[in-house]
Amino acid sequence: MKRVISVVGLLALACVIGGPAPVAAATEAVAPTFTKDVLPLLQRSCQSCHRPGTAAPMSLLTYGQVRPWARAIKDRVSARQMPPWHLDRSIGVYRDDPSLSDAEIATIVGWVDAGAPQGNPEDAPPPLDLAALDEWAWGEPDMIVSMEKGFTIPAEGADTFPSEIVESGLTEDRYMKWVQLLTTANCCVHHEHVYAFTEQNPDDDDNVDTVHVTEYVMGNNGDYFPDDTGKLLYAGSKFRFAPHYHPWGEEVHDISRVGIKFYPRGEKPDLEVTSHRIRTGIGDDWTLNREKVEDLLLKQGIDLPLDGETPLEPFLTEADVNSLAQLSIPPNTVARSERFLRLEQPAIVINFQPHMHFRGSRMLLEAIHADGRRQLLTDVPNYEQVWQLTYTYEEPHLFPAGTILHSVAWHDNTAANKHNPDPSAWIGWGARTMDDMGNAWTDIAFMTDEQYEERRAEQLDRLANPPRPRTSNEQ
Ligand code: HEC
Repeated sequence: MKRVISVVGLLALACVIGGPAPVAAATEAVAPTFTKDVLPLLQRSCQSCHRPGTAAPMSLLTYGQVRPWARAIKDRVSARQMPPWHLDRSIGVYRDDPSLSDAEIATIVGWVDAGAPQGNPEDAPPPLDLAALDEWAWGEPDMIVSMEKGFTIPAEGADTFPSEIVESGLTEDRYMKWVQLLTTANCCVHHEHVYAFTEQNPDDDDNVDTVHVTEYVMGNNGDYFPDDTGKLLYAGSKFRFAPHYHPWGEEVHDISRVGIKFYPRGEKPDLEVTSHRIRTGIGDDWTLNREKVEDLLLKQGIDLPLDGETPLEPFLTEADVNSLAQLSIPPNTVARSERFLRLEQPAIVINFQPHMHFRGSRMLLEAIHADGRRQLLTDVPNYEQVWQLTYTYEEPHLFPAGTILHSVAWHDNTAANKHNPDPSAWIGWGARTMDDMGNAWTDIAFMTDEQYEERRAEQLDRLANPPRPRTSNEQ
């Protein structure tokens, strides 16, 4: 009742003033306010990170918290630095996409330019019910694997990238349904990878790498695999925790732990998800360069039965290896490199995560079809090394056997790259932070021809009968 009276009162006031006043009132009405226009955007795109206890520098929950940051917010959102989401938004649809549309950015900019008004408190949406930072998002896990020693992050100093290996205690092969990482140092974990490996399943066997168990990035809840798909963890797996820590003014100890929900014992999901890295650099996965390696060796009169176990070092010089590495980043240059992965079976491609170091500036992933048609899946033109984001397709891409995944990486070794510690250095492939990489990580689920035909038919059916678009006044 109160509200109605105040609106009537306003109208009356406008009538009394007359003339240009209604125009002024109309302008007023379209200027964005915090409560009505800005807060809903912050809730959707910022608050999962910008809240108490996280590594984000400030909370953005209330007007009082947000107001002092208005100018910085305008700068960061218009440069598309916040929220962190570095891909070309015109290509593809992604799960949990926090990014702002151009219109939403204009709303925030307009609000800041108008003096960042609070607006009517009654317009504010109810506060978000954010899951506690130490809570499993999808219920109780079946298995928890925890760091043993963990790491003490000092109050001050440089970022660190340590790693700890622990036994998982898993005694049988099981398929994961979901997986999540929790840390006791939310303040200071920038992101964190967890890998699993076994003696029987070492790295790079047929390009199926160490299992990438999960990745924690602030504001990310973990991985819930699509229906009927799961990732296999082998009995006897060891887990390697690989965090990136950022000191935060007080000493903190991190014991990260991973919670995993399995498919019921003995149950195998229709499709098995495997992690792949399509990578530049010979690295350990030289079997991908088998023909080139064999050529080089033959030139030297060496005819070796090559298998993944053969050590190359006695036969090839470092220069030979570099010539195979396909990752040469000369000083003061933007270098481009590329790699290919042929899908030997039909498959769905679930996600894409570019991984490069300081010089990494852009990476894209495309599919090259049997008829030569090229389909750009994702382009990340604003790659930032500090953010190791995984982009998950809203609907996984379905490809027939023979499709080639092609990744292209750009490394900017010029002074224009603000993260570049030394544009005069020649940089090649390597695991050290000062070396570089160009890995396109992707989760893939291979399938049989029958499974492909079935999924393809469903897909064509959906394309032929798209859901009726909703009109604007439908909910
Ligand atoms: C995934 C977590 C995450 C999300 C989502 C996120 N931020 Fe941030 N934000 C950070 C972190 C971490 C930093 C500090 C590191 C940096 O500056 O990049 C930061 C820094 C900032 C800064 C700079 C603060 C300073 O010290 O100058 C602003 C402004 C900002 N964020 C605003 C936003 C806004 C507005 C949104 C939503 C539209 C948003 N952020 C979404 C994590 C996030």
